[in-house]
Amino acid sequence: MVLLLSSFLLIISWKLTLSAMIVLPIVFGFIYFIGKKLRKYSKRSQQRMEDVNSVLEESISNIRIVKAFSMENFEINKFLDATKRYYNSLLRMTRIRHLASPINDTLATIAGVIILYFAGKNIIGGSGELDAGDFLTFVLAMFSLIKPVKSLSQIHIKIQEGMAAAERIFEVIDTEEKIIDSPDALQIANFENKIEYINISFSYNINEPVLKNISFEINKGEVLAIVGPSGGGKSTLLDLFPRFYTPTGGSILLDGNDISGIKLSSLRGLMGIVTQETLLFNDTIKNNIAYGMDDIEENKIIEAAEMANAHKFISEFENGYKTPVGNRGVMLSGGQRQRIAIARALLKNPQILLFDEATSALDTESEQLVQEAINRLMKNRTSLVIAHRLSTIKKADRILVIDKGAIVESGSHDQLVNNGSLYNKLYRMQFQDS
Ligand SMILES: Nc1ncnc2c1ncn2[C@@H]1O[C@H](COP(=O)(O)OP(=O)(O)OP(=O)(O)O)[C@@H](O)[C@H]1O
Ligand SMILES: [Mg+2]
Repeated sequence: MVLLLSSFLLIISWKLTLSAMIVLPIVFGFIYFIGKKLRKYSKRSQQRMEDVNSVLEESISNIRIVKAFSMENFEINKFLDATKRYYNSLLRMTRIRHLASPINDTLATIAGVIILYFAGKNIIGGSGELDAGDFLTFVLAMFSLIKPVKSLSQIHIKIQEGMAAAERIFEVIDTEEKIIDSPDALQIANFENKIEYINISFSYNINEPVLKNISFEINKGEVLAIVGPSGGGKSTLLDLFPRFYTPTGGSILLDGNDISGIKLSSLRGLMGIVTQETLLFNDTIKNNIAYGMDDIEENKIIEAAEMANAHKFISEFENGYKTPVGNRGVMLSGGQRQRIAIARALLKNPQILLFDEATSALDTESEQLVQEAINRLMKNRTSLVIAHRLSTIKKADRILVIDKGAIVESGSHDQLVNNGSLYNKLYRMQFQDS
């Protein structure tokens, strides 16, 4: 429409058309200005919305802490602040967006008035090139042009807003995955022989080494227990094996192959992982146990639950295995969650087990049930266990004592109790009474 109408106008009278176009640079300049501003504001609104979401997510998921510390008002105010900032940036954006239309209308009207005035005067004076009929056609065509031109400028504004949003989305989409398979990565089906950590060092932040030059090995079928003071780097040491992080120095070998050259899916397929905090999904007990397994038979799930000492409490629920566990498993007790996680690992039946024992203390009865489940889980497997319980440690073929990122002592329980000074101290403080 813009092209057709403009050509039509030029044919009727190019002089009038050009004089009407005097306002165009102003209109374009203005639209450009608005587009730029909107892009900036749109980007800011996105960030503000993120803030609102994160405040909300955090305070709801930590609701117990909020209540326990009577911080409801503090959290409400934090939310109100974030919402108000979001509201303000939206308002600013809306204001400037709606400025475009009236200003363009005004400019178009001004152009129209100028044309009407001069051309009309000429026609009435009889000195014009146009007759009254042509002039009327011109004016009608000119005013029909306003609407499509306006929609075009709106498109520009919309695109600018969208671009700001797209930029943030593409930032996420374009984030490069750091840990990926190399093109010639090995596919591994079995663990045959041994795992070796060779001179492993690691730091989350540069200049803050968390692991320093750690070397050890585990033969197939062995249980290796890792103990040590909190913050010493035990969980980190375990996280390197499934390649959640890449060591900053040294290498980890599985049957002589560097794990960085093994297909992630086949490497992780060999292992079962039970983490320090038991993480469950907001789903049924059954689906939590069968997580990652397609088409698994019901009796397999029950068998795993029985071995994990979980079947009894699950059957006592009205809906049994179909009971939903709630967000992160809030509807279950700590010990119950742990046994579900153990059942999950048992069902996967991995060749290698990475087990980060929970530090939370359980009462004697659930403690015993969990311990039995752990023993069954470790049986006939190669296990790396971060141990907080004496009974787990006693099962170990070898114990590594990790302190401040280094192996300070290693050996069997009996050797270490007599010779290891740190182990002896830990034993007296932490393990003896359990
Ligand atoms: N994601 C992370 N980013 C930065 N630093 C981290 C991260 N995770 C752990 N750390 C730091 O690394 C060190 C070792 O942590 P790690 O979780 O391995 O200790 P741990 O031996 O498992 O302790 P605990 O017995 O309490 O579980 C700590 O000083 C900790 O602050
Ligand atoms: Mg830990």
